[in-house]
Amino acid sequence: MNESTARQIVLAARPHGKPKLTDFRLEEIAIPMPASGEVLLEVQYLSLDPYMRGRMDDRNFLAEYGVEGVGDVMFGETVARVIASNHPDYAEGDIVLAQTGWRTHALSDGARLKKLDPAVAPITTRLGVLGMPGFSAYSGLRLIGKPQPGETVVVAAASGPVGSLVGQLAKIAGTRAVGIVGGPAKCAFVKDELRFDAAVDHRAADFPAKLAAACPNGIDVYFENVGGAVWQAVLPLLNNFARVPVCGLIAHYNETGSGECADRLPATMREILSKSLTLRGFIFNEFAGLLYAEFLREVGAGVADGIIRYREDIVNGLEKAPEAFIGMLDGHNFGKVIVRVGV
Ligand SMILES: NC(=O)c1ccc[n+]([C@@H]2O[C@H](COP(=O)([O-])OP(=O)(O)OC[C@H]3O[C@@H](n4cnc5c(N)ncnc54)[C@H](OP(=O)(O)O)[C@@H]3O)[C@@H](O)[C@H]2O)c1
Repeated sequence: MNESTARQIVLAARPHGKPKLTDFRLEEIAIPMPASGEVLLEVQYLSLDPYMRGRMDDRNFLAEYGVEGVGDVMFGETVARVIASNHPDYAEGDIVLAQTGWRTHALSDGARLKKLDPAVAPITTRLGVLGMPGFSAYSGLRLIGKPQPGETVVVAAASGPVGSLVGQLAKIAGTRAVGIVGGPAKCAFVKDELRFDAAVDHRAADFPAKLAAACPNGIDVYFENVGGAVWQAVLPLLNNFARVPVCGLIAHYNETGSGECADRLPATMREILSKSLTLRGFIFNEFAGLLYAEFLREVGAGVADGIIRYREDIVNGLEKAPEAFIGMLDGHNFGKVIVRVGV
């Protein structure tokens, strides 16, 4: 690669089940030149997020959302630096939140850029705790979970950017916070660093019994990030009138629809009816107009004061993005996965 070369990662093939490295391809192209009204961005950090798995299929599991064509650059949110500007609102050196996708350089007409002030918070936080995942945690818990003091809130994928904030906000709301994670190191982090009341390892053989022991008064709010076996262990523990914000179902993202999952719908519906449960799915942008400013103010202050903690799992080099993404779907990440692209 030389200085006038940009790199990008495209979808090389649609995965069947778990993605493989050969489903991605690294390409080199000439760095594009900005036309009038455009800026040229140099990507500093790329966010890797579970939703990207749905964009690799020919039909996204999030029915309303798009997919990549084979050969298209993978979609993704980034923090980038303006390195040339023919746009009146942006100057060279500006740092912006952008949707450039998995690449080192991109052109933008400015329409979907958000200027960031690096003095307010470390810029990587705008991809994690103060970004889309953090807002998903904040809005889903506040508007659907509605935790009340003394209640028990349970969240899975609890060391990741969504789950870690859910548990910490649940503590701030005066509830008992229980995190479900994979492995002892993540259990220790969630309990000791994030100060949840309890952490349970979903990979342990006696996981359902351990979860029940960690929730002696049942579960009032289950923030659903995972689905699968974790949901099956949670369901019998839900209290009457429990609320379940359904944020993600990562245990199912690699499923091929060929019947891996037994149909437990009748039993689930019986629980919903008999316990007057509320299950409500949401996509974060539904709530952006309602409380995004409040989120940035409140969680931003908590992060600045150190009351709200976060962990980032930073991977060096755009070429490492496919491996890091595949690893995240298997729980190999420890914290918000961010690729350092060009810093
Ligand atoms: N609705 C929305 O608007 C919205 C927005 C953002 C994110 N989400 C969803 O929220 C969830 C969490 O996202 P995130 O960015 O915070 O991800 P993350 O926690 O950084 O990464 C995903 C984690 O999921 C866990 N996991 C994977 N497969 C699992 C399984 N079969 N059973 C149990 N846990 C499993 C792994 O953690 P362990 O090692 O601890 O198991 C893995 O590290 C995802 O489902 C995502 O799609 C939804």
